[in-house]
Amino acid sequence: MNKQPNRLAIEALQLAETDNVLELGVGSGWALEKLSQAARRGRIWGIDQSADMLAMAASRSTARVSLARARFEALPFPDGAFDKVLAVNVAYFFADDGREFREARRVLGPGGRMAMYISDRATLAGWPFAREDTHRSYDMDELIAAIARGGFTPDEVDVTPVRLPLGVSGLLAILAKNS
Ligand SMILES: C[S@@+](CC[C@H](N)C(=O)[O-])C[C@H]1O[C@@H](n2cnc3c(N)ncnc32)[C@H](O)[C@@H]1O
Repeated sequence: MNKQPNRLAIEALQLAETDNVLELGVGSGWALEKLSQAARRGRIWGIDQSADMLAMAASRSTARVSLARARFEALPFPDGAFDKVLAVNVAYFFADDGREFREARRVLGPGGRMAMYISDRATLAGWPFAREDTHRSYDMDELIAAIARGGFTPDEVDVTPVRLPLGVSGLLAILAKNS
């Protein structure tokens, strides 16, 4: 079920061969493989707070993929280190104050692009494992407001509702860092 939103978000990144790409929350590492195939001459980084997830991702990674144990709100990279940032099914774990969006924006270079996907509140309501005390849910306005708290200006943000198989509805956000 995670493949389709990852495919959508990776497509939205408009990857170039030489892009340096960061994935926030790598999970099993499925997207890292796709990122390294598309950005064939770039450097691919993935971070996750979970050692178990990083181990699983490492088992399917190539030499151009680097992994680090880190949290979304404290990325171990200098300003402007990446051309693209992928963030699929991770904003459920973001704080209210926009700090993770701010961090993602910081590590993007000018002209950089971030693509993120979350299943929306209506879909999460049907998932017993995604309760409000573990997963932050959003409707479109709330997501746009959270992104704005992270420092992206309105002209940098494009959020689209998406429909996926099995009745899943979500939000695909493309965040372009203008300068
Ligand atoms: C729902 S999974 C999504 C994984 C993958 N992006 C996908 O689409 O299949 C969320 C991932 O984020 C990681 N995670 C959750 N909170 C985190 C945080 N604050 N900092 C870093 N990683 C975090 C989890 O360990 C998990 O691997």
